Amino acid sequence: MESIQILDAKKHVGETVQIGAWVANKRSSGKIAFLQLRDGTAYFQGIVVKTEVGEEVFQLAKNLNQETAVLVTGEIREDSRSKFGYEIGISGIEVVGESHEYPITPKEHGTDFLMDHRHLWLRSSKQHAIMQIRNEVIRATYEFFNNNGFIKIDPPILTGSAPEGTTDLFETNYFDQKAYLSQSGQLYMEAAAMAFGKVFSFGPTFRAEKSKTRRHLIEFWMIEPEMAFMHQEESLEVQEQYVAFLVQSVLDNCDYALDVLGRDRAILEKYTKLPFPRISYDDAVELLQKNGFEDIQWGDDFGSPHETFIANSFDQPVFILNYPKAIKPFYMKPHPTRDDVVICADMIAPEGYGEIIGGSERATDYEFLLEQIRNHGLDENEYSWYLDLRKYGSVPHTGFGLGLERTVTWLSGIEHVREAIPFPRLLNRIYP
Ligand code: 4AD
Ligand code: MG
Repeated sequence: MESIQILDAKKHVGETVQIGAWVANKRSSGKIAFLQLRDGTAYFQGIVVKTEVGEEVFQLAKNLNQETAVLVTGEIREDSRSKFGYEIGISGIEVVGESHEYPITPKEHGTDFLMDHRHLWLRSSKQHAIMQIRNEVIRATYEFFNNNGFIKIDPPILTGSAPEGTTDLFETNYFDQKAYLSQSGQLYMEAAAMAFGKVFSFGPTFRAEKSKTRRHLIEFWMIEPEMAFMHQEESLEVQEQYVAFLVQSVLDNCDYALDVLGRDRAILEKYTKLPFPRISYDDAVELLQKNGFEDIQWGDDFGSPHETFIANSFDQPVFILNYPKAIKPFYMKPHPTRDDVVICADMIAPEGYGEIIGGSERATDYEFLLEQIRNHGLDENEYSWYLDLRKYGSVPHTGFGLGLERTVTWLSGIEHVREAIPFPRLLNRIYP
């Protein structure tokens, strides 16, 4: 007898098979029991009929607790009443691992309780769907960059540098030195771009931010492409093509997950149309001021209500271009005709999900960068390797960083970024 996974049930209609699964839920009457089975690939129903299996198997089925692990044997049948389309008519059940008083019941639980039980909460159908979308975004990212001539380079995680400012660094001991957990691999990716042309990284990054919002994680995963001999306008094209490709891949390959999450495909379809709108920082400030945001002044960074208003003014992801120099990191290229702004862009996701990409053209001039490093209070000795890149064949180059979890949150249409990563690290939470 063949052992199969639930997702492959459609290939085995009429066959008797074995499946290893957990009992997610169950209901029964005097003569028939319905087991909701999950094996990690999908959920479907197992039907146990007393007159077919006999008293002993029927009693076993009726008394199975939630999350008991079982090996079930039976015949795969079509089931037109369920969304999944197939079920198993069970003839035998073997208990592999018992389960008693599983803490997460089908009733409503508070978020804190679910977060404390994240190791078990991951088994639920909604979390399963979100992780499938996350997996698809990861898969599609590799496909996109591999198909477009990029090579994957892994920057270090223990570093001595602070590309995004020194306020939110995690410090650790590195033998008799100090080290930091990486905030961004960017500076190393710039070195890699000078060696390999077009590169991308995909790894964990850390921000010791005391932010408790629905968009902030302490540990998150970032995709950071960097491209030599490339200016900002071309980078924006890569960014919009990449994001549209992610949306299309989720539409093509995550049918079941989108159904479980109730995510409207028609909304996602809109985000596959290129180009994405662009608005300058200057115009964005004006747009906000004209629409009742009296608090915002030129020079301020945008908060989430501002980003949401700007995004809602368009029906797609939108680029905000060329922010004030004073609120951006040291490495950005100065504007050719204005000294108050830099050549950069943030991509703001629609529907109030906020910034999903930050990127810029990079300063290429040695003297300018050295001055910037000093002005930002950074130790120039720690950046001398980075400055070398401007000494030996410095070329125009641009790059960006996309936050994986914010993107997954948006594509899944869920409320909070904490559900977009298996084990979130949040302010005051490092358990489980
Ligand atoms: O805008 P950020 O800070 O840009 C950089 O780190 C650049 N060095 C990237 C580059 O040019 N190579 O971060 C990039 C993205 C943000 O747009 C956001 O999607 C995500 O990373 N991000 C976070 N996601 C979750 N929690 C946080 N605390 C995040 N901080 C940034
Ligand atoms: Mg940013």
